[in-house]
Amino acid sequence: MNDAQMHALAERHGTPLHLLDLDRIRARFGALRAAFPDAEFRYAVKANPSTALLALVAASGAGAETITEGELARAVRAGIPGERLLIGGPGQGPELRRRARDAGAALASLDSEDQWRAWRGDGPGRTRFLIRVNPGFDPGTHPHLATGAADSKFGLPPGRAAALAAEVAADGVLDGFHVHAGSMLADASTHPRILDLLAPLFDRFDGARTVDLGGGFAPDADLAPFAAAVLPFVRSRGLRLILEPGRWPTADAGRLLTRVLARKEGATVHWICDAGMAQLARPALYGAEHPIRVVPVPGRPPAPVARGEVQGPLCENADRLGRDRTLAAGVGDLLEVGQVGAYGTSMESNYASSLRPAEVTIEHGAPHLARRAETVDDLWRHDVGPD
Ligand code: LLP
Repeated sequence: MNDAQMHALAERHGTPLHLLDLDRIRARFGALRAAFPDAEFRYAVKANPSTALLALVAASGAGAETITEGELARAVRAGIPGERLLIGGPGQGPELRRRARDAGAALASLDSEDQWRAWRGDGPGRTRFLIRVNPGFDPGTHPHLATGAADSKFGLPPGRAAALAAEVAADGVLDGFHVHAGSMLADASTHPRILDLLAPLFDRFDGARTVDLGGGFAPDADLAPFAAAVLPFVRSRGLRLILEPGRWPTADAGRLLTRVLARKEGATVHWICDAGMAQLARPALYGAEHPIRVVPVPGRPPAPVARGEVQGPLCENADRLGRDRTLAAGVGDLLEVGQVGAYGTSMESNYASSLRPAEVTIEHGAPHLARRAETVDDLWRHDVGPD
């Protein structure tokens, strides 16, 4: 996507505008398959639930990891068959379980003993189970993303995981063990530690044939060291490897286009844009730093360079896109916020009755409007009762 195309799309569909490059996502899935030739992928839908992206996942032979009835419904609608559906998450309420059963979901990851009791109470089905193990260490990522930390709500410590595995195995439906140690893992140092924890569990449970190591690769992570850490374990034991990447295949395929509404000069410049935390929550929630640049207009001299804050249009300080940036941006300029393909649209909100923007997908180089922008009428679409 070049600058002229971005300007044309921003003119045509307005801003803010999400762009999602499906060609890029296809290439990234290809790279995942090349790095882990033995693995089965269950794409973590929470990263980006785009219909077109899920259709691509379905066509590629990958499956989906889904944690809500909405994600599961999207995956089913995209044509992902039951044998490639994995139910995750620490909740798994009745409606999610009912839909999983209807879809013939092959696997669910059990996060607690109570979750097992709930599935069991539903009666027999074709779903088999992984036990989610809490590895009990912080993988050194942002605290919100460190799902493997001992005090996190996820999984069971190895002793309790073994006790639960024994119960599930007694019912003949134990399939294996699952660890997702955290997100934004830049290197593979966590993986040997995870496998050391899992080895005694696989030694003890003969019927356990699947090891699911979750997702978590940072978008710029080199996959080769992860593969080198994991593949010998899997091959020597004849296990099936499942991976649940969300961010790695999608992050750099997404961009958010936003226009500068005001440039406020002062000790620090504030660029007030038409997108902020409602369209991209990550900077507000995690202090995430996304690349931001001005999309230049040929022949138009750039605004004076300044250092400052790239801000959203809402009334709180957390509403920002970037801190301490150096930009030649003036009123009316178009900004491109990068790395928005993962946890961008999936975490949008209607905060302050903001409208969700349109989304354009790019496939074989050509843009398609994939989702229209919300209008104000969409805001009260679900209201009931007197007008
Ligand atoms: N599997 C499980 C069980 C997970 O909890 C997650 C992410 C994934 C797979 C996918 O992880 P990934 O490959 O995308 O790192 N909203 C946060 C990220 C939260 C990730 C939660 N779990 C963010 O914007 O950074």
